[in-house]
Amino acid sequence: MSTHHHRNPTTPLSENKHLLQWVKKMEELCQPDALHWVDGSAEENEALCSEMVAAGTFIKLNPKLWPGCYYARSDASDVARVEDRTYICSLSKDAAGPTNNWVNPFEMRKKLKELFHGSMRGRKMYILAFSMGPVGSPMSQIGVQLTDSPYVVVNMRIMARIGRAVFSEIDKSDKRVVPCLHSVGFPLAPGQKDVPWPCNPEKYIVHFPETREIWSYGSGYGGNALLGKKCFALRIASNMARDEGWLAEHMLILGVEDPHGEKTYVAAAFPSACGKTNFAMLIPPAAFKEKGWKVWAVGDDIAWIRPDDKGRLRAINPEAGLFGVAAGTSMKTNPNAMATLGRNSIFTNVALTPEGGVWWEGMTDEPPAECLDWQGNIWTPKIGKETGAKAAHPNSRFTAPMSQCPVVDKDWEKPEGVPISAIIFGGRRASTMPLVYQAFNWSAGVYIGATMGSETTAAAAGALGKVRRDPMAMLPFCGYHMGDYFNHWITMQKRLSETPRIFHVNWFRKGHDGRFLWPGFRENMRVLKWIVDRARGRALGRETPIGWMPHYEDITWTGMDFSREQFDVLQAFDRSAWRREIIEHEDFFFDLHGRLPKELVFERELLICRM
Ligand code: GTP
Ligand code: SPV
Ligand code: MN
Repeated sequence: MSTHHHRNPTTPLSENKHLLQWVKKMEELCQPDALHWVDGSAEENEALCSEMVAAGTFIKLNPKLWPGCYYARSDASDVARVEDRTYICSLSKDAAGPTNNWVNPFEMRKKLKELFHGSMRGRKMYILAFSMGPVGSPMSQIGVQLTDSPYVVVNMRIMARIGRAVFSEIDKSDKRVVPCLHSVGFPLAPGQKDVPWPCNPEKYIVHFPETREIWSYGSGYGGNALLGKKCFALRIASNMARDEGWLAEHMLILGVEDPHGEKTYVAAAFPSACGKTNFAMLIPPAAFKEKGWKVWAVGDDIAWIRPDDKGRLRAINPEAGLFGVAAGTSMKTNPNAMATLGRNSIFTNVALTPEGGVWWEGMTDEPPAECLDWQGNIWTPKIGKETGAKAAHPNSRFTAPMSQCPVVDKDWEKPEGVPISAIIFGGRRASTMPLVYQAFNWSAGVYIGATMGSETTAAAAGALGKVRRDPMAMLPFCGYHMGDYFNHWITMQKRLSETPRIFHVNWFRKGHDGRFLWPGFRENMRVLKWIVDRARGRALGRETPIGWMPHYEDITWTGMDFSREQFDVLQAFDRSAWRREIIEHEDFFFDLHGRLPKELVFERELLICRM
């Protein structure tokens, strides 16, 4: 028995009348057995984790190997974001645009009320206040998530600032709070035994942009359930940003320290599972390190970017943790991530080793002789070879505190954010797209972002490896009409005294043998250096039809064996491939036409002219 005093979790932690009223209303709707106001303390967290261990949701990992870490397996049907079940229910269909699922909000509310009615029976309803961005920062936003999932609560404790401090922020400021209702949709009848991962085959991830509300039903996984992340910080925040003149983007933020000790901050948008976490905490190759180059991480997934009073863009990372792709993360590819996730972390859908540790494909060269796979079945390298079964699900994830990252930037929680000098767009493209090029100017850069393509990954349910247009890596995350979003980007220039330089990268171009032409990971520093040098006006480039490209000599090759011929293949501009590419741009623009900014039409014409 613990000796210290325990508070009663049913006692409200806020005096805000609107909040208390809403909680009461939602309690009446969902009919949980009890309420639990989440204070965010370590004791509470431990108690929730122990309860989940007892319920079979969590396995405590070996504390000698993985101190403070827990392991979870989701239901096999609940492993990724469900884009076809994600809705933007604006008042008019046109406001949501053709790239979002839309249902009339009145109809959707009716449906949701039916679904949520009694949905929390037999469970607790947790009242989780969270701040996206440092508590009290003028760039931060507050939400309250009501959820019947303790797994969500302990994950959100890592991913956002939660608990008492946020409740008192709600009580003392008049900042608008975003109400987020979440249920796994698996009520329990009296005496019914729970399952380790409750969820519902029927899933609804719903956003009401005008009233700034989120309702999520049926899933406990990732972006479907940790509502601060994609639902709030991107879909709802993109609406706030449009209205208030800022940007909510699917971007990492990093700072490059050069040999003079000068820091240049860069934001980069790559689609889901296309390398943001890896790029954000890159360790430069030895030859760069010796000279004094260093990369510092501010954020790995989301950036809120706003012009300051001098007209420079400044960015904060609204999150406090990483919800990172486990598969492929190793001491070779991302030692900083490995150090970050070594303690106080949660692992979902990876493999469990007999020593009480975790493993995933790519973590080590040698797989464990035997382990339990993400579904709890025995897995051996032999079984893997014979059946093709993976020990870890391709979208298995770790949840780890950003503060544990060895290269976290000293200004990562600065309330006013960090200044952004360059913006990078990038996709996963086996062909056509060179390793790197720079846009001629802001509107050409917006065109590059707007027409970005990428092969689909396991981060979302659905087909893998198909090239789709994923403008600014925001296709699944922009909470309003994509044409208006492009317009917002174009207009942003008028509010800036200095526009960041815009670049496009592709780490994933393949040769005829089907292998990557570029080694990627830490070698990406060579590209990043050119980008930073260009942004600071100290590197050369050559003009091509699509933008500025580095000459072979403009890249620092020290410590890497990469010939001019290899580089030429990697940078090749293939006119016939680009012809097809531009036809695909046009195909994507077709449905946006009514709201497409004319600048993008002109940019496409200029591109064709140059070709
Ligand atoms: P989300 O969290 O889904 O938004 O993903 P992310 O953009 O943060 O992607 P992440 O850094 O987790 O990388 C996803 C996958 O891409 C991992 O399996 C990485 O190993 C792989 N990857 C990352 N960077 C590179 C690279 O430079 N080259 C190659 N070939 N693969 C990479
Ligand atoms: C992504 O899919 O881009 C992610 C993971 O970052 S999730 O939080 O599930 O959206
Ligand atoms: Mn992401």
